[in-house]
Parts: sequence; structure tokens; C-alpha cells
Amino acid sequence: MDFSLESGNITAFQGDCIVVNLFEGVKHPGGGTGAVDQALDGAISQAIATGDFTGEAGKTLLLYTNRAIAAPRVLVVGLGPAEDFDFLAARKAATTMVQSLSGLKDVKRIGAIVNGTGVGGQDATEMARAFALGGGLAAYQPPQYPADDTSPGLEQCTLVEFDAAKLPTLQMGLEAGTHLAQAVCFTRDLVNDPPNILYPAVMAQRASAMATRTGLGCEIWGEDQMRELGMGMILGVSRGSRREAQLIILKHEPSGTETQAPLVFIGKGITFDTGGISLKPTGGMGEMKTDMAGAAAVTGAMQAIASLRIPRKVYGLAVCVENMPDGNAYRPGDILTGITGKTAEIISTDAEGRLILADCLGYVQRYNPAAVVDLATLTGAIGIALGTLAAGLFSNDEALQEALVNAAAASGDRVWPMPMYDEYRETIKSDMAQVKNSGDRTSGVSSSAKFLEHFTEGYPWAHLDIAYMALHGKGGGTKGPKGASGYGVQLLTALAQAI
Ligand code: BES
Ligand code: MN
Ligand code: ZN
Repeated sequence: MDFSLESGNITAFQGDCIVVNLFEGVKHPGGGTGAVDQALDGAISQAIATGDFTGEAGKTLLLYTNRAIAAPRVLVVGLGPAEDFDFLAARKAATTMVQSLSGLKDVKRIGAIVNGTGVGGQDATEMARAFALGGGLAAYQPPQYPADDTSPGLEQCTLVEFDAAKLPTLQMGLEAGTHLAQAVCFTRDLVNDPPNILYPAVMAQRASAMATRTGLGCEIWGEDQMRELGMGMILGVSRGSRREAQLIILKHEPSGTETQAPLVFIGKGITFDTGGISLKPTGGMGEMKTDMAGAAAVTGAMQAIASLRIPRKVYGLAVCVENMPDGNAYRPGDILTGITGKTAEIISTDAEGRLILADCLGYVQRYNPAAVVDLATLTGAIGIALGTLAAGLFSNDEALQEALVNAAAASGDRVWPMPMYDEYRETIKSDMAQVKNSGDRTSGVSSSAKFLEHFTEGYPWAHLDIAYMALHGKGGGTKGPKGASGYGVQLLTALAQAI
């Protein structure tokens, strides 16, 4: 769906539907909604008076205009209480708009007024940004095989603004929201695509094409370079796969930041996790195509950061590997040596994510980073702890933890702080190596973070366990079509903007 902007009166808009809004509890609508109500001889007021429509958030009212105005339909979107209205509520209102119209096959071109800038008193740029973001995320259609070009959907949404002087500020917001929505949808495509179509080399191709489009620096390393650097943990996990592991390094280095310490993101990119020799049970194994959601989020966040021209140095590493069992695969009992020279005893080949991240955490020391944040679909246990409502946040640095909590509040990509007690280290002590890759049943969540911490040295670090956030869940976050959520792109972009 494309967004555009024009000045005029919403009642005169020529298209398939016009969209106006209502705060909860308002009895007599004003502004654009009031103008439409008058043109329809009080039809909206009547729906309010009867109690049929209250303006509750997430609810809509669809009216047919019977030629009273140019457009054949009017959709009124509930905004909830005016005092609770903010950026995330505005994003949700745009999502509601698209979701309720996308079932109507004749509705292709719509005109809408921006939510929240009148009685709501919100900033026009931010409201336009929320509009394009919520609308763009809701209009997303997952890839289909064969490609489905006939599927219905909105094509064009025009924001109609009465006051022509507001157009430039609205335009800025629309562009920013569109860039962010496109980056989230890019990540969703990566996560949704099947593991026979999207494997490490394909992740590398998609990232490198994206880097060319957006002007990011891009390096792609194969296993030869990993061997030279001593990345024995990535290579160990990759041994059972016919497909070569890839390390993708994306660099956003805007001019004037030459001497700045980079903010570094690292994403787990297991393009398929069978568990390896510690084979997973068959039930639901197909979902393990989403085990590269951390790498996809980092790649999408780098796209957003570049296209929004965020004035800070940011590096993104996506480490892409397939975890397969075969005659050459690594085994439980093996001991692997990684880039830092530290050794790990393998208890389970299904605890592979922490191994490939360990080599990246060791590698990025040479950047002297301002901060490092890794994202990984790391443990099933995080879903038992937090459900699908928040990612687990583990950190050794209070300021970074706070920055992430704030970025989560601003972006709606929720995080919840988890403990990093030193006693958790006990559970991953090995008899033969410096650490082992899996602890006991009672510490699944924090012992995985303690394993990672072992390989972080000399920089503020945070780990986000996003195992249950990669797909759309029941609550929180951004709703959208079934499948990949694109979790993390908005969070990392907000973080890069803030620190
Ligand atoms: N990729 C999985 C974690 C996962 C589980 C992601 C459910 C998404 C949904 C990870 O590699 C894994 O297998 N973790 C094991 C760790 C265990 C062997 C220590 C787990 O959580 O069972
Ligand atoms: Mn696993
Ligand atoms: Zn995994």
C-alpha cells in the first residue's frame, strides 16, 4: 500500500472509502469527522446516540453514503479515550483501519484524516509517522508459493489535510513511518520464507542487495574466513550442514561519525534448527524456520537505520548457519574452541544459538563498541517465563538496560528484565572445558544468558531472548497477518535513535 498526501476537505475525496475517527465518549464529533457527519445528515451522531458506536479503540463503524458525498463508504475508527492517546494508540488506529477495510474487495483507494492532531493535541509529524507505520504493517501480505498477485488489498491511502500549511510536517512523518514499516516487512519476509528457499547464502544475498539499495557497507564472510579468524564455534555448529555458514556484517557510518564508537547489533540466524544430533521431536519442527528471526531483525533494523539516516554509527552482524544432523555433525561430548580461545563442552547440539553468538560476541571486541545488543530465538524456556508478551532482557549494564526499556516503551516491542545472578554460572560449569553449553532444567533461561556473558568482555552488553516474539502472539506488540511479527526492528531503531 502506498501513502500520499493532499490538502482539501475530506468530504470531497474521490475514492472507494473515506476514513475519519472518534475519541471515546465524544457525543458531537468535530473537525473532519464532524464535517462528514453533517454531510451524512447526522448518521455518525445517531450511531453514537444509540450507543452502537462509542469510539472504543479497535472498534469501527462502516456507513454507506448513498451519494451524499463523492465516496460510497465512510469508515469511522475508534481512537479510545483522548487522554490515553499517544503514538502507539495512533499506530493501532491505522492498523485497525487497514484490517477492517482489507476484507472489502472493492476498496482499493481510500482517503483519511490524520488521527490525534485536533482534540488529541498530538504532534503532526509523529501522528503521520504512526499512520504510515500502523497502516503499512497491517497491509503486509506474507509470501505465497506460487506468488499470489490477485490477493485483495488496499492500494493507495491518501491523507487529506484541511490546513495546507501542515503538509510539509505531515510529509516528513509519512516518509519516516513508511521507511520503518518497509524495514519490518522486509524482516517478516525473511522469517516467513521456508528453510529450503532461505538458507545462509540466501540471507547473505538479500542483505547485500538491501545494503546496495540503502547505502550500507556490507561484508559477507564464508567458512574460509571464519577458519582464519578461529571461529570454531560457528564452524562446529555448521559442520552437519551441506550449506555454508555466512557471517553478514552491515555498517552504517554516516559522515561525521568517523571517530564514534559503534553501537553493535548481533542476530542469531539459524535458518533451520533440527537440533542436530540432539534431534528435536517432530511435532512442530517446521516452526524452527523462524530460528533466524534475530538475524532478520538486525538486518531489517539496519535497513531502517540507513533509510532514516540516523546520525550515529551502527554495525549489524547476522550470523547464519543451518543446524543439521549428519555424519560430519558436531556431537554431544565434543569440545569446541572459539575466537576468544575459550572452550565449551557440548551437552546438547540443540543449544546451538549460544555457540554461534559466542564467536560474534568475541569478534566485536575489536570494534571497541559503545554497546552490544544481541537478539536470539534462544530458549523455549523464555516462553514458559514470559509467554508471547515480551522478550527477555538480560544485561550487565544498567544504562543500556534502561535505554532498552525506554526504546521498548517507545516502539511497542516489549522487553522484560530477567536476572543475571552469578549463581547461575554454577549450572554451566564443565569438568573438562571452561563452560558447557547447557545447564539444568531449572535455569534454562538465565544460564543461557550466563553462557553468552562468558564471551563478552570490555563493553556494555544486553541479550534479548526473542524465541516467542518472532511470530505474532496473543498480546502486546504489533498485530498483523499470521506469521512473522518483525519483532525487534522497531526496538533497535528506537534504540539507535536514542543513544
Ligand atoms: N531455537 C531453539 C529455541 C526455540 C524454542 C525457539 C522454541 C523458538 C521456539 C534453541 O536452539 C533450542 O533448541 N534451545 C533449547 C536449549 C536447550 C537444549 C538447552 C531449548 O530451549 O530447549
Ligand atoms: Mn536448538
Ligand atoms: Zn535454535
